[in-house]
Amino acid sequence: MARRTYGGALTFYIGVVMFDVPADAYARFMGRFSEPLAVQFANAVGLREGQRALDVGCGPGALTAQLVERLGADAVYAIDPSDSFVAAARARFPCVEVRSGAAEHLPFSDDVFDVTLAQLVVHFMADPVAGLAEMARVTRPGGVVTACVWDHAGGTGPLAAFWQAVHDLDPAAQDEAGLPGARAGHLALLCRQAGLGRIEPSSLTVTVWFDTFADWWEPFTLGVGPAGAYVARLAADRREALRARCEQLLPAPPFPVKASAWCVRAQA
Ligand SMILES: C[S@@+](CC[C@H](N)C(=O)[O-])C[C@H]1O[C@@H](n2cnc3c(N)ncnc32)[C@H](O)[C@@H]1O
Repeated sequence: MARRTYGGALTFYIGVVMFDVPADAYARFMGRFSEPLAVQFANAVGLREGQRALDVGCGPGALTAQLVERLGADAVYAIDPSDSFVAAARARFPCVEVRSGAAEHLPFSDDVFDVTLAQLVVHFMADPVAGLAEMARVTRPGGVVTACVWDHAGGTGPLAAFWQAVHDLDPAAQDEAGLPGARAGHLALLCRQAGLGRIEPSSLTVTVWFDTFADWWEPFTLGVGPAGAYVARLAADRREALRARCEQLLPAPPFPVKASAWCVRAQA
């Protein structure tokens, strides 16, 4: 993976390219975790009927689905820079306005949403502070800006066993622990830097069961996100070594993978 330069156009390009994959591949890799996470995230936000919401970095629509269920399609807007995900979200929610674009330049007027949400997106933003500030700009004063990011740094994210195996074989490999918002307290700090008020940190945890080791491993070979990009670059023998190391580290199937995310709820 190319080195991240936070705030630079290069990072934006990388963020988009890593998710320039079919929605089905995303669903098998991260959707298994983000769909149940979205239920908890939407519950934690405390949505009320009559509110208008924006799902920033909607992907194929895990959180969008929860917003539609709670607020109705007319009240939900979504945006993502990945063409394949925008197409998938539009197909899944024909009555939701799904736009193409990035958090840092939201194509909406000031103060139009009651709630603006970003699930598993801040760590991929080219400029997370600018992205959160944009989320605040389009949210009415007193409205809610909220985000969550996996706890990659604390080793309780969904990919912890994978990155452990990678480091066992390739200690210099760059994992996702250093990404914005992925360590304790950092998401709240980014919100403060973006000018948000009444920042309430919390965490969310989901548990996903895998019936077989192949069920867990195969999605890593689909090229999704930093983990998929890492596997895609490996020669066949190193990929097989990584697969075998992962199998050693994981419990005998069926096994659960518990995954925690840092969450903040703040006021625009
Ligand atoms: C891990 S996925 C999360 C998708 C969805 N929110 C979910 O929970 O399943 C990260 C998403 O962030 C999007 N993304 C990357 N850079 C972004 C940016 N600068 N602004 C908004 N979204 C971005 C990607 O296209 C991708 O859909």
